[in-house]
Amino acid sequence: MMRLAPMAGVTNAPFRLLARECGSDPVTSEEIDARALVHDNSRTREIARFLPEERPITMQLLGSEPDVLAEAARRLEAEGADAIDLNMGCPVPKIVAKGQGAALMRDPAGAAVIFRVMRRAIRVPLTIKIRGGWDDRSVNAVEIARVAEGEGVGGITVHPRTRAQQFTGRAPWETIASVVDAVRLPVTGNGDVRSRADAEAMRRATGCAGVMVGRGALGAPWVFLPAPPARAERARAIRRHCQLIMALLPERSALLQLRRHLAWYADGLPVAGQARAAMFRVPDATALQALFWSLWEGAPALL
Ligand SMILES: Cc1cc2nc3c(=O)[nH]c(=O)nc-3n(C[C@H](O)[C@H](O)[C@H](O)COP(=O)(O)O)c2cc1C
Repeated sequence: MMRLAPMAGVTNAPFRLLARECGSDPVTSEEIDARALVHDNSRTREIARFLPEERPITMQLLGSEPDVLAEAARRLEAEGADAIDLNMGCPVPKIVAKGQGAALMRDPAGAAVIFRVMRRAIRVPLTIKIRGGWDDRSVNAVEIARVAEGEGVGGITVHPRTRAQQFTGRAPWETIASVVDAVRLPVTGNGDVRSRADAEAMRRATGCAGVMVGRGALGAPWVFLPAPPARAERARAIRRHCQLIMALLPERSALLQLRRHLAWYADGLPVAGQARAAMFRVPDATALQALFWSLWEGAPALL
């Protein structure tokens, strides 16, 4: 089991569908602010939208108030979500300042209440995504996992870096192994997987049931395929991604998403530096795609 990890501003419907078409197992949405969802914020509603063909899909919530999280979970379930995931890993200062994301790991008793209240609100499985802990002195992934298991949580993803580590340094896979040893729930390992070989290595090293790939899928959604695809196949996947973005997103988000993803796809091209600069100046989606393909075609020998 190898699947795309939730990434804010990235794992929207077009990228999720593309990842599935490239062999990813069922995916999780990007984080959705529970309070904004309950207040019917229009931008949040757009982020929370998913298509019937994306199912089974897990929708991820960000929040700290049990009742608000429960109400948001109930709404997502009513819209067809097949599981609800609670974000306990986001390290962003403005998020943890509100007691959300990784800050939830600092209060296992408070987390237990959240699990209980959310669990009671929905019939679909509740899963959580955690970090190793807050910092080096408080690595408590095992404690949180045990609390979660006791409260009826159905699965745990572990990104073993601490909040203090953010995204730096090595992801200490040993922490994933300790969670696997401590609970009977399916544990998904995450962190520094950039190929199927890495995923296999993580599974061997930790005994995890599945693997999530985040940054390794940026500009490389084919990371889920059994073998690295030929150039023509990669081009086909990029074209499909552009088509999904244009078809499924409002015009302004579409241009933003094309810029972001085409810049990642261009990373592998020898012209990456200039390409990136030029791509951020192009005024519209058609011109942007034309520029990307001219760069792609201009460097075939070096790919
Ligand atoms: C741009 C970006 C956005 C992210 N947004 C989320 C998110 O919304 N929810 C979440 O649980 N994790 C989020 N993450 C963390 C990833 O899911 C993953 O745990 C982390 O990147 C480590 O995995 P990797 O080494 O495969 O990238 C984000 C990571 C990145 C790089």
